[in-house]
Formats: sequence, structure tokens, C-alpha cells
Amino acid sequence: MSKKVLVGYATRYGSTKEVAETIARTMSEAGIVVDVCQVRDIKALTDYNAVILGAPLFMFHWHKDVLRFLSKHQRILLNLQVAIFALGPTHDPYDEQEWRDSWSQLNKELENYSWLKPVEIEMFGGKYDPTKLKFPLKMMAGSVPASDIRDEEAIQAWAKKLTEKLQ
Ligand SMILES: Cc1cc2nc3c(=O)[nH]c(=O)nc-3n(C[C@H](O)[C@H](O)[C@H](O)COP(=O)(O)O)c2cc1C
Repeated sequence: MSKKVLVGYATRYGSTKEVAETIARTMSEAGIVVDVCQVRDIKALTDYNAVILGAPLFMFHWHKDVLRFLSKHQRILLNLQVAIFALGPTHDPYDEQEWRDSWSQLNKELENYSWLKPVEIEMFGGKYDPTKLKFPLKMMAGSVPASDIRDEEAIQAWAKKLTEKLQ
């Protein structure tokens, strides 16, 4: 594939950055030229044929940086292949209702961008570290324990699937 791919991410606590880096590494191991960059630092998309966009869900919404990015780059994104991922669920053990809720939150956000026709949309488990929370979130969170349910294999498998799909 002679394409250059951008993996753009937004993050608050860093776990989505690591997922974006795993996706970029997996794709570059498959021979694709990949840049990985925080969406708020991306100025132009002229170098890319495909964009993979990832961000966490917070308080029922997708990270605002990625929403801004979509609005700002709408015209060029219409002509690119776009894949989407979100991080959301953090309960360990697996909580089916939580995954359903995270999917509904993401789908609701994407409804506002009906012009966007992603080739793939995926949800990954996220990481929750209560020691990183500040007031008032720390108080609101109560005693929910730390968790990290990011699934390296699932992330790599998705990146491989994208590698084929974007060819
Ligand atoms: C204060 C707070 C609010 C959150 N709200 C949601 C939410 O509404 N829906 C959801 O699916 N996940 C929610 N999460 C889980 C995050 O998406 C998850 O922790 C993610 O891995 C964080 O990504 P980051 O480390 O890149 O910032 C929330 C996490 C925190 C700490």
C-alpha cells in the first residue's frame, strides 16, 4: 500500500495515546507509513490518504478535541478513508451493560456528524486510575477501584484488519 496513514488521538490521562501508538506500530510493522499525533496538534491532512481517529468517552461525550477536529477538517475528511475508535468501558470484570452504554454514547456523538462515513468503528476497554483524578471528579468517583481493561490483542487485531481494509 502506497498510502500514508495518520493515527490522530485525543486523551486526558494518556491511555488512548498508548492505544494509538499500538495501532500505529502494528500498521507500520505491516509496511504502512504511519504518523501518530495528538489531534489538537494536527494542522493539515494533505499528506494523508487515510485517518484513524481515537478518543476516550468522558461524562457521556467523546473527547471534545476530536469533535473539534471533525468539524475543522470536514471538507478534507470527506475525501479520505476514516476509521474511528473510542475508549470507554473500564469495569473489571466485563460489564455488558457498560459496553452497551459506551457504544450508545459514541453512536449518539457520531449522529451529529452524519457526513462522516467511517470504514470502521470500534470500542476498546479503557484504563481508570483514581489517583489521577482531581476535585471534583475525585469526590464523584467515590471508591471505584483502579482498572486497565485495554486488550492489546484486540487492538492489534483491529489494526491488522484496518491495514487490509485501507489497501
Ligand atoms: C471522570 C471520568 C469520566 C468518564 N466517563 C465515561 C463515560 O461517560 N463513558 C465511558 O464509556 N467511559 C467513561 N470514562 C472512561 C474513560 O473513557 C477511560 O478511562 C479512558 O481509558 C480514558 O482515556 P485517557 O486515559 O486517554 O484519557 C470516564 C473516565 C473518567 C475518569
